[in-house]
Amino acid sequence: MPQNPWFETVAEAQRRARKRLPSSVYGALVAGSEHGRTIDDNAAAFVDLGFAPHVVGHHAERDLTTTVLGVETAFPVLISPTGVQAVHPEGEVAVARAAANRGVIMGLSSFASKPVEEVVAANPDTFFQLYWSGTRDSMVQRMDRARSAGAKALIATLDWSFSHGRDWGSPQIPDKLDVRTMAKFAPDVLPRPRWLWTYLRSGRLPDLTVPNLRPPGGEAPTFFGAYGEWMQTTPPTWEDVAWLRKEWGGPFLLKGVTRVDDAKRAVDAGVTAISVSNHGGNNLDTTPATVRVLPSVVDAVGDDIEVLLDGGVRRGSDVAKALALGARAVLVGRAYLWGLAANGQAGVENVLDILRGGLDSAVLGLGRSSVHELSPDDLVIPPGFALTLGGTSVPAPVAG
Ligand SMILES: Cc1cc2nc3c(=O)[nH]c(=O)nc-3n(C[C@H](O)[C@H](O)[C@H](O)COP(=O)(O)O)c2cc1C
Repeated sequence: MPQNPWFETVAEAQRRARKRLPSSVYGALVAGSEHGRTIDDNAAAFVDLGFAPHVVGHHAERDLTTTVLGVETAFPVLISPTGVQAVHPEGEVAVARAAANRGVIMGLSSFASKPVEEVVAANPDTFFQLYWSGTRDSMVQRMDRARSAGAKALIATLDWSFSHGRDWGSPQIPDKLDVRTMAKFAPDVLPRPRWLWTYLRSGRLPDLTVPNLRPPGGEAPTFFGAYGEWMQTTPPTWEDVAWLRKEWGGPFLLKGVTRVDDAKRAVDAGVTAISVSNHGGNNLDTTPATVRVLPSVVDAVGDDIEVLLDGGVRRGSDVAKALALGARAVLVGRAYLWGLAANGQAGVENVLDILRGGLDSAVLGLGRSSVHELSPDDLVIPPGFALTLGGTSVPAPVAG
């Protein structure tokens, strides 16, 4: 019997992605770092949180809509920016179309495989993500291009520290695809004929360049070429963050905050929103799950700016838990990447439907009529669950 293309959970989408993708591409999406503690804790912490549902008094109609950085969304889930080279020939354009069809906001990585102009054409509610990389002039040029294309907000991701090495082994990824590299990767690719066929049918090979970092009049750099530029760039100060925000001039999301002191500095730098994020567990391993540190950050700055969360969201119930702890919305990464790998645009729509359906069930069972009514009272929070990072000032060393 042919497989039903529809899947009922994100876990099933991941199983299908694993079967479908060459192991190097699958491994690049799993990502993580070192022991993998943070990537695991991001998802496991959601399971540690329980619900306190009502038995009667449920609402027949529930409102899941909200706004994020001034943009309306059908439910509080955004596509988190990821570089999705080689997963699917339509890449971020397929993701953007799926997001538009489900009424949600598209986050586009500057390391993505599709140009911002094509992505905004597919989904006008697109936020463009930038790393602190290259010269100030090149950053201004990239922002100007995204703004002219119609991007509605800037996401500045600043939590990367170039940590690499995984106990389970990192995938080998080529710099570009020519005949020699194709022959080298044949043993990885040939056992995955459906993936290969999707590319052959599209008439192109995976393009490993990053078109949104193309200098005016120049060529798009390769992924690793762009990565090299980023590694050599002096890391930003808080003054640089304020500069970036001013240069962008519109809604500005700082992604990667886990500490209360950083959240307060972000407010001082004039950001519109932050995402409590540890880069999906790909950065410094053993950083705690984002949902554990969310309440302390909301407590510190939730009245001043919008607080979002990303990391470990795999179910609609996870979304409900993050909202109950004060997040305005969540961003998802791997969940939609598994959907894209499993079934292209329809797979991403399938994942968004799973998240929406699960969120709606939670709001129903908790006896709420709107996502805005969710609160910690809806949850069972185990003792010691919530953590505060950077919340107390460190005493100055005593002289002598
Ligand atoms: C394969 C992969 C690539 C990513 N690339 C980027 C990126 O280019 N820019 C960025 O801001 N975050 C990037 N991220 C981080 C995601 O935006 C997001 O923070 C993370 O995936 C959330 O965790 P989740 O995958 O558990 O949902 C990437 C994550 C993955 C898994």
